[in-house]
Amino acid sequence: MKRTRILHLLQSDKPLDNVIIMGWVRTRRDSRGFSFLEINDGSCLKNMQVIADSSIADYEEIKKITTGSAVAITGSLMESPGKGQKWELKADNVEILGIAPDTFPLQKKRHSDEFLRTIAHLRSRTNKYGAVFRIRSELSFAIHQFFKDRGFKYIHTPVLTASDCEGAGEMFKVTALDMDNIPKKDGKTDFSLDFFGAATNLTVSGQLSAEMFALALGDVYTFGPTFRAENSNTSRHVAEFWMVEPEMAFSNLTDAMDLSEEFLKYLTGYIIDACLDDLELFAKYVDKNLMTTLEGLLSSDFTRLSYKDAVDILNKSKQKFEFEVDFGKDLQSEHERYLTERHFKQPVIIYDYPKNIKPFYMRINDDNKTVAAMDVLVPNIGEIIGGSQREERLNILEARMDEMGLSKKDYWWYIESRKYGSAFHSGFGMGFERLLMFLTGVTNIRDVIPFPRTPNSISF
Ligand code: 4AD
Ligand code: MG
Repeated sequence: MKRTRILHLLQSDKPLDNVIIMGWVRTRRDSRGFSFLEINDGSCLKNMQVIADSSIADYEEIKKITTGSAVAITGSLMESPGKGQKWELKADNVEILGIAPDTFPLQKKRHSDEFLRTIAHLRSRTNKYGAVFRIRSELSFAIHQFFKDRGFKYIHTPVLTASDCEGAGEMFKVTALDMDNIPKKDGKTDFSLDFFGAATNLTVSGQLSAEMFALALGDVYTFGPTFRAENSNTSRHVAEFWMVEPEMAFSNLTDAMDLSEEFLKYLTGYIIDACLDDLELFAKYVDKNLMTTLEGLLSSDFTRLSYKDAVDILNKSKQKFEFEVDFGKDLQSEHERYLTERHFKQPVIIYDYPKNIKPFYMRINDDNKTVAAMDVLVPNIGEIIGGSQREERLNILEARMDEMGLSKKDYWWYIESRKYGSAFHSGFGMGFERLLMFLTGVTNIRDVIPFPRTPNSISF
């Protein structure tokens, strides 16, 4: 049986006979001699209204159809006399594929996001979560389109790795050792006996691998899952998230900032064009200012200022912060949000951070105190992108690694890229879920990823 997606039927410019739709019943209403069914098949936000009258075979069966049931309906697409929809389907045949008993948790009423998280396997059948995950899908495609249009090559970087790109030590270990019988050497786990013969973890970033490919293919990007075992139970952190990381050879920090701004504007414009129906749901029920915020990003030139100037602004502000602001300390989310939401009221790029709070690979500035790093901050989110120009000078990179206590032996391959035809290059990483939060106004990162992984939560 060939089904037609409801999305396509609703765009029809003429009545059609013999169409088949399959989907899930949102509601059923009976009146004398008729039943009305609202069917959603996930292809779009809108439902198809189906009218079944008592002339069809098994009409009595229809009265058994409950909210959540899966059905297949054959009928004619006709102009709807009712208000609110152009088309409706007059059923010739209704087949119940799978009934949903009244224990189905998504009966017609509003449910809290907290409750829906406990049924993450079903929540995509609601309007809101259907919309989130359609936008997520479109956004993935838009990312590939953006880079393809600009000649970037897509690189699949490994998920299993022996290096800690960000140097924060927040890694999930991966082992094939018998956990009940761990081999030891000098009191420590002997990873030489493990699967890879070395301590292994899930990647925190594909950047180091992407750099190797930028230094071969020119402009590249990665887009894949990354993992962080940071035990911060916030509304902006998950343990497994997707990151987009472009890396450009022969590029400096300004090039990375320019690309980040162009990238965010492109993706925002793309989603406004491609997903307007779904976006309007968020603008109506989730964040009344959503469209203003999105238009604001599209029309602004992102403010660019140094970390030092950002610290000055924060110190001069009358705002009370929980965490102290001081040169040499990392900015907290409250500081970032103050800058982008209250002070500048638009996206902000902060650059030249103190080197002691940043990873080993960032390029040291001439002052020898700061590095060529940048973070992009947007309203409602704070940091959405982090990037830098990379240290391409062999001797300075090695000195920095020594200073930070990193093993040059472990990173021999990374160091070799600075030995053979080293070239200045830069890139950044964008948290995919953070962008989805920005685009939808959803305030908890758990609600924009299908099955969130957070401390003490691995169901589904
Ligand atoms: O700033 P981060 O740690 O930068 C890097 O990993 C670099 N290696 C990227 C690069 O230059 N290629 O992470 C980049 C972005 C952050 O700005 C944030 O949007 C997101 O990744 N992010 C998270 N998103 C969700 N949950 C978490 N725990 C995240 N940690 C970072
Ligand atoms: Mg960062």
